[in-house]
Order: sequence, then C-alpha cells, then structure tokens
Amino acid sequence: MTLLLLAGTAEARAIAGALAREGRDAIASLAGATRQAADLGLATRVGGFGGEEGFRVFLAKEKITAILDATHPFAAAISRRSARVARASGLPYLQLLRPGWTPQDGDNWTMIDKEEEAARLVPEGAAVFLATGRQGLERFDGLAGRRIWCRQIDSPGQAFPFEGGQYLIGRPPFSVDQEVALFRRLGIEWLIVKNAGGAASRSKLDAARLLGIAVVMIRRPAQPEAERVETVEAALDWVRGL
Ligand SMILES: NC(=O)c1ccc[n+]([C@@H]2O[C@H](COP(=O)([O-])OP(=O)(O)OC[C@H]3O[C@@H](n4cnc5c(N)ncnc54)[C@H](OP(=O)(O)O)[C@@H]3O)[C@@H](O)[C@H]2O)c1
Repeated sequence: MTLLLLAGTAEARAIAGALAREGRDAIASLAGATRQAADLGLATRVGGFGGEEGFRVFLAKEKITAILDATHPFAAAISRRSARVARASGLPYLQLLRPGWTPQDGDNWTMIDKEEEAARLVPEGAAVFLATGRQGLERFDGLAGRRIWCRQIDSPGQAFPFEGGQYLIGRPPFSVDQEVALFRRLGIEWLIVKNAGGAASRSKLDAARLLGIAVVMIRRPAQPEAERVETVEAALDWVRGL
C-alpha cells in the first residue's frame, strides 16, 4: 500500500508524524505556498501536479493505492479533483475536514460568500487585519482606502497589490494574548478571516471578541461528495483499516 497524503494543514502534519512513527508507506504532497515548510517526517513532494492529467500520471507512477486529503478547507479545487479522480480510478479517498468556526456570545460576525463582498461592509479609513493569506489578495482590492495589515508566514518579496495595505510577518500559532496585544498595537477595528476552523487559529477570533472588533467571516467553498471525517484520529483509523 502507498498512501498519498495531501497536506498543508496542522492536521496533515500530525497525520504525517503518526504515519512515520507507524512505518507506513506514504508520500505527502504540499502545494508549495509556504517557502520554508516544516519537515513532515515523510517522503514529501512539493508543488502542483500539473493539472488533472499530471495528477493521474503521478498516481500511476507512484502506485498510489489510497488518498487521504487533509488539505485546507479553502483548497477546494484540489479536494474536488482528488475525490473525482479517486472515484473514477477506484481508489479509496477520505477527506479530513475540521469543523468550521461558529460565533459565540459576544462575537460580532458578518458572513459573506466571496472576498469581493468585504468592501461594502468595511468603512473607508478603517484599520483592518486581513487574516486570509497572500493567495487571492487581489480579490480584496475593493478595500483600497482602508488601512490594512495582512499577515504572512514568510516575506512575500513583492509590494502589496493595492493601496493602503502592508504585510506583517509571523509564523503561527499565536496565543489569544499575543493577538490581543497585536490588534491593540495596530488599533484594529475590523478582522477579515476565512472560516478555516481549528483551535490553533481561533485565537484571533477570541481576541476580536475581547476587544469588540467586528469580524467579516468568509464562508467555506463547497466540498466534494466524499467520505469525510473531522479528526486526525478518525483519519488515522481509516488508514489503519485499509
Ligand atoms: N493548499 C494548501 O496547503 C493551503 C494551506 C492553507 C491555506 N490554503 C488556502 O486555500 C485556498 C486555495 O489554496 P490552493 O490554491 O492551495 O488550493 P486549490 O485552489 O484547491 O488548488 C489549486 C492548485 O494547487 C495545487 N495544490 C493544492 N494543494 C496541493 C497539494 N497539497 N499538493 C499538490 N498540489 C496542490 C494543485 O495544482 P495542480 O492542478 O497543478 O495539481 C491545485 O489544482 C487559498 O485561499 C489558500 O490561502 C491552502
């Protein structure tokens, strides 16, 4: 058996560690968005497969016998394609999708479906923390005219794509106290975030609640029709049962 682990999340990292300890035959795959990705402890390939045809070629060449998809909840294209190709090829496929965040008492969230909708909610001149990553940043260009900070894991090496924005470098996780201190220092009034879910990155939402910061929450894209679990343990049980 050779498992393909589609990685790029904290859960994928935990799964990779467990698979390595159990001595299972597996290859991890990262999209390559982070330049200095932490070692997963498994054989790892980095970068796109070269579209659907490249993906099929890879599966055949590496004699992949099952696919565990632990990619980010917003990486829906890779998930939908992998599920479809797996089904067509008769390969077992499982998606690990952590539960999304839901508002608690005291939260002030507005849900939107698309990045472009954020601009009609956030007033001109407002101080905004854009916790959405660098990819697709141009979809927020309607926010030009606000004061925007966008956090990145590593230096983007290029100018911010629209006026009023700047990058801030930091590698997660961040505690609630750290987020509170950062938002206070920057005078943040609005937080824009994708509903990624997960305990580790919830801290910014807890900090927003504590400081009375308004949150614009981007809903998740549609996920594939496929077998799905929510936890690392459940995903590992699936692998052990293959
Ligand atoms: N993917 C991640 O690890 C990740 C992590 C954190 C956040 N996100 C967020 O999710 C959104 C979409 O991200 P995305 O462009 O990576 O996903 P995507 O839109 O689902 O995938 C786009 C292409 O990236 C390649 N790709 C994605 N994940 C891969 C993996 N694990 N191994 C190899 N190739 C992979 C594939 O290229 P080919 O067609 O060439 O195979 C895929 O077609 C962004 O907003 C991003 O911020 C993604």
